[in-house]
Amino acid sequence: MSHYPALRLRRTRASGWSRRLHAETVLTPADLVWPLFVVEGKGVEQPIASLPGVSRWSVDGIVARAKEARDLGIPCVALFPYTQPDRRSDDGREALNPDNLMCQAIRALKDAVPEVGVLTDVALDPYTSHGHDGLLDAAGYVINDMTAEVLVAQALNQAAAGADIIAPSDMMDGRIGLIRDALERDSHINVQIMSYAAKYASGFYGPFRDAVGSRGLLKGDKKTYQMDPANWQEALREVELDLDEGADSVMVKPGLPYLDIITRVKDAFEAPVFAYQVSGEYAMIEAAVAAGAADRDAVVLETLLAFKRAGCSGVLTYHALHAARLLAG
Ligand code: PBG
Repeated sequence: MSHYPALRLRRTRASGWSRRLHAETVLTPADLVWPLFVVEGKGVEQPIASLPGVSRWSVDGIVARAKEARDLGIPCVALFPYTQPDRRSDDGREALNPDNLMCQAIRALKDAVPEVGVLTDVALDPYTSHGHDGLLDAAGYVINDMTAEVLVAQALNQAAAGADIIAPSDMMDGRIGLIRDALERDSHINVQIMSYAAKYASGFYGPFRDAVGSRGLLKGDKKTYQMDPANWQEALREVELDLDEGADSVMVKPGLPYLDIITRVKDAFEAPVFAYQVSGEYAMIEAAVAAGAADRDAVVLETLLAFKRAGCSGVLTYHALHAARLLAG
């Protein structure tokens, strides 16, 4: 009985109701985190050429976007600032300014749309004049321990403004434990940490660097701190360390080229795993759509569902609003 013709796997696929009934994985708007780029001013929208369909918004626009997200059931937005060149410095000290653009946006969101979670990126690259995520020594190497201290201060600055999830994306060793300790000491016991635990030195971040204005500034690459795409065992070690240090959830980044990492992490740890479908992945889909090579709605929903199937609790994606609209029907 366990083979053809009695066994026909096409039987359950024969109608829409049956495919729905047998779906092993579902995608809902509650699985999505929407990354947003913040710029100074009021009533400002700046389209980003390399990310067609994505703009930088001034704080008022960010609040409007978060309301759209809420109305479509998206639980959380992620914030990234475009820092004016005159506020960038070698040490990225603008990251610690309690009134920087990031903090203004966090406060405005928590004031106007408190029911939407706010995830904030911890790393110095939007604030440094050299585009690296930390402090450089004379040879241009990112200094781990001094950078980690600054990241702690950056995280506390964001938490004080009202951030719900602190998401360190810098890949310094030891920073999760240091940030967790500091949050506890500062009474931010319910501020979560989503660690960019397995973040690879990827060619897919280009449009993001345009969006935060660091592409032209970046000297060299980030290979001395971000992971080698050749490695998967090292990803498990990164995840284990970050969970031990107090991360509430971990992220794998980029997304689609690293689905194997997501599944390995999910198999090895009983912890929430998120993926970041990054800017270059978004741009690749949009380029395929523009070339007539792909149907946007189909590939957006298919790629996001693939993250769920691989083991993700949720996905950071620039397609979040579009996907939520499609899911709303
Ligand atoms: C900064 C950071 C980057 C991204 C998220 N946080 C870029 C980088 O590491 O150079 C990339 C996100 C994307 O490409 O969409 N540390």
